[in-house]
Amino acid sequence: MSGSADRDKGENPAEETTVEEKAAPEVSEKMIPVYVMGRRYEVPEGLTIMKAMEYAGYKFIRGCGCRGGICGACSTVYRKPGDYHLYVGLACQTVAEPDMYLTQIPFYPANRANYNFEELKPAPEEIFKLYPEVFRCVACNSCTKVCPMDVQVMDVIAAIKKGDIAKAATLSFDCIQCGLCASRCMGELPQYHIAQLARRLYGSRIAPRADHLEEAAEAVRQGKYNEMLRELMGTGIEDLKILYQEREIEPEMAGEDWQPAEKGYL
Ligand code: SF4
Ligand code: SF4
Ligand code: FES
Repeated sequence: MSGSADRDKGENPAEETTVEEKAAPEVSEKMIPVYVMGRRYEVPEGLTIMKAMEYAGYKFIRGCGCRGGICGACSTVYRKPGDYHLYVGLACQTVAEPDMYLTQIPFYPANRANYNFEELKPAPEEIFKLYPEVFRCVACNSCTKVCPMDVQVMDVIAAIKKGDIAKAATLSFDCIQCGLCASRCMGELPQYHIAQLARRLYGSRIAPRADHLEEAAEAVRQGKYNEMLRELMGTGIEDLKILYQEREIEPEMAGEDWQPAEKGYL
């Protein structure tokens, strides 16, 4: 993220068109003041914090990925006038409000243990060894309160302390690794790294194997789809588009027993 020199010169940064800005929806003509790192800017009402900062002339070269609330790169911290609360959110998802004081924390330093995953056993002791600070949790629940994905972060840590890797993995499934939980932890835990290790162990070593997946993998190994793939690779782009548009789509309300008309590749 960097401040634009054009803005400093008083030029209108909205004229710096990019592909994304051209595609952006209409915004309100009403302008509101926001403060970015202490400096006041007038931005159109209704923009997300990320868009408001871009309108103000900042360019995100870091701290911005998906723009859709998924990558966790755009953690933002803000206060509102006359309100002692320190708010957090994702800049690409949170709408700017008048007189918001905001700044970005696209990276929050948090200890990430080094390990050779292949050597780890699916046992809680492995997590305790790599992250002994897990026992520094004082159950204050601050992490849960700041999580933009509503992950029950404190419960994730509690599950790990009890040795329930499966529960920790399931509870933390929606984590987007934004790091906001770590920014508030008085036990100084890197909760999201710990939870990620739990998910890796669960997904790789604990979750039951799906028989049908193994069967499908074996069919691939046996070359069941080779001919179809060769045919597709020899098809021109326009015909591929038609094939894609005319493909049979599973109905939204399809039952468990739904099958496509073409069953040759099942
Ligand atoms: S658990 Fe932590 S890192 Fe994951 S989404 Fe919530 S606040 Fe972000
Ligand atoms: S913020 Fe830290 S100390 Fe508080 S509940 Fe979460 S992990 Fe535990
Ligand atoms: S840019 Fe990816 S979550 Fe905001």
